[in-house]
Amino acid sequence: MQRLDKFLSQAGVGSRKEVKNLIRSGAVWVNGTAASGGDMKIDETRDGVTVNGAPVTGYRRVVLMLHKPAGYVTSTEDPRSATVMELLPEQYRHLRPAPVGRLDKQTEGLLLLTNDGALAHRLISPRYEVPKRYYAEHEGTATEADVSAFAGGLTLSDGTQCRPAVLKPLGAGKSMVTVTEGKYHQVRRMLASRGLPVTYLRREQEGSLRLSGLARGACRELTQQEISTL
Ligand code: URA
Repeated sequence: MQRLDKFLSQAGVGSRKEVKNLIRSGAVWVNGTAASGGDMKIDETRDGVTVNGAPVTGYRRVVLMLHKPAGYVTSTEDPRSATVMELLPEQYRHLRPAPVGRLDKQTEGLLLLTNDGALAHRLISPRYEVPKRYYAEHEGTATEADVSAFAGGLTLSDGTQCRPAVLKPLGAGKSMVTVTEGKYHQVRRMLASRGLPVTYLRREQEGSLRLSGLARGACRELTQQEISTL
């Protein structure tokens, strides 16, 4: 049993306040009768709940793409810093999406969030080798020797072995890097190991998904088709 207002907001009908107004307006029915109030207890496995005549089921999968700005930590809660959750519109927050993998606090760019745990696991697992492409600004200029070292699989200063990766120099102080794993500070450490310390990092692409068109700080829901290509 749970409160009707909580059930409706977690099902993605709206924020607690919007749900309260809907109930007050008489749009929410439980087992064929207008709901008496948000504190009404329902059994979501047995009771039939409708909003404006449309049935509501408890869980709605959501997969979001966020253009993360610098300065936000990739976490659902943090006692000291602003989290990426604070960037999500209220309509998504109560669906309880969690970040898929992480971007460093200072890294910008494409971050997926979902409340589908199995999908998140698949996307994070190195077994599936989802390529992630980053635009990096760094000191120095990447050379053909750096490209070969990335392609051969770098060994970082603490002995961490990286999978082969693609480095594409874009002229003085700029490169694209594509990796298929997500070790701690990976791209920063890979470039630093070649004497190219990073000053700016943005994830541009993950699998077939591109950040293009999404303003910094904005988020959007993926379409069913986009989700199926993941
Ligand atoms: N590599 C990094 O170093 N930082 C990130 O945030 C993502 C990849």
